[in-house]
Amino acid sequence: MTPIETLLSRRSVPAQCLTGPGPDAAQLASALDAALRAPDHGHMQPWRFKLIRADARAKFAQLLVGAASARDPATPPAQLEKLRSRPLQVPLIIAVSARLRDNPKVPGIEQLLSAGAGVMNLLNAFHAQGFGAIVLTGPSAYDAAVAAGLGLAGDEQLLGFVYVGNIGAVVPAAPARPAHAAFVSEFQ
Ligand SMILES: Cc1cc2nc3c(=O)[nH]c(=O)nc-3n(C[C@H](O)[C@H](O)[C@H](O)COP(=O)(O)O)c2cc1C
Repeated sequence: MTPIETLLSRRSVPAQCLTGPGPDAAQLASALDAALRAPDHGHMQPWRFKLIRADARAKFAQLLVGAASARDPATPPAQLEKLRSRPLQVPLIIAVSARLRDNPKVPGIEQLLSAGAGVMNLLNAFHAQGFGAIVLTGPSAYDAAVAAGLGLAGDEQLLGFVYVGNIGAVVPAAPARPAHAAFVSEFQ
């Protein structure tokens, strides 16, 4: 694929279609290096990546289940089971957060955008290397107990969880890709 073909063919792959072994050390390093190529006003370097793999996945799953139960003790068992089982289905989860610091020239929104651009590069880099990936959030991503359980610092904002793996099942059709014309106008 040409670089532009790679960008145009990227799609989210649902976690249930992902399987092991996942990226090796060099492939993961390439993806993380690509994430750090995101533009970064003021060299704030806001991006943080917490790797969750092997036995730590079960600990992460328990963190999600415990936090969901604490948020709502009436959470349906099926929902809790999904939270418990999904992390175990993929070889690698990357919890991405943005470390936001005061800077009069670089407001927090710019630091968040930079970290978000890092997530995009991460997704593209995994896709370019033949892996599937998806960002998952939900209430867990905005739960202070989850952030604390992951060991995030007080100034780190969790952005989401990137689930990564080999594509091991037929992937459902991607959402329709809109024509860009509907989102573009010419300044006269
Ligand atoms: C910030 C963010 C959070 C997301 N959270 C979820 C989520 O909780 N569950 C989910 O199924 N997909 C989630 N997604 C993935 C989107 O559903 C997916 O990108 C969208 O369906 C478009 O598909 P595409 O990536 O193939 O274009 C999230 C994407 C982003 C950017």
